[in-house]
Amino acid sequence: MRIAPSILSADFAALGAAIATVERGGADLIHVDVMDGHFVPNITIGPPVVRSIKRIAKVPLDVHLMISDPDRYIEAFAEAGAAMMSVHVEVSPHLHRTVHAVQALGVKAGVVLNPATPAGTLEDIAADLDFVLVMSVNPGFGGQTFIPRSESKVRAVRALLDRVGNAAPVAIDGGITAGNVARVVAAGARIIVAGAAIFDAPDPERATRELKAAAAGGVTSPAAR
Ligand code: DX5
Ligand code: ZN
Repeated sequence: MRIAPSILSADFAALGAAIATVERGGADLIHVDVMDGHFVPNITIGPPVVRSIKRIAKVPLDVHLMISDPDRYIEAFAEAGAAMMSVHVEVSPHLHRTVHAVQALGVKAGVVLNPATPAGTLEDIAADLDFVLVMSVNPGFGGQTFIPRSESKVRAVRALLDRVGNAAPVAIDGGITAGNVARVVAAGARIIVAGAAIFDAPDPERATRELKAAAAGGVTSPAAR
């Protein structure tokens, strides 16, 4: 079980402090939301900021590319220090090439599904993936409400990966709280991304710890924790 706080909801003028805080709370990854104002209606950060974060973060960086042309930027984000990188299936016509390009740079490759994108689109790439990220809100903003159907999407993706013999983890991103995390974990999610539930809390260190504890409650087999 890994908790990946999304810095989208952190104070961008104090990212170092924000990251140190959630690391003290037990963050396993730092989730970095990259938005281009084209694929999604918001604009966030690029490789220079990732490079700076990389210098201070103790845990690996999970870079979520919400951009129209990910192929153009994969190398830059890898050089900046991404340990994991995910691209959206909706903007990747040559997904097999893209996934292998990420892996060739020594970065774990993930594919992201928007809420309206079926798990089945991954059928022919499932065996190649290092992780799958299921969006449980429409990407672009932090602090949105969890879309309930995402729970069955997590199950469907887990089943698909299992069918091809791939133990790669399923990640969930959007609207996750201490109140709903156990359900998505029970459905098969093993990387939990959370922004508002952590950084909008009065004590983000404690919120990270509590979210992790709540997530562990969703694991049925103790060995899987
Ligand atoms: C949404 C981003 C998410 C977002 C999650 O477009 O991909 O990573 O930061 O934030 P919350 O947990 O606030 O929904
Ligand atoms: Zn994200």
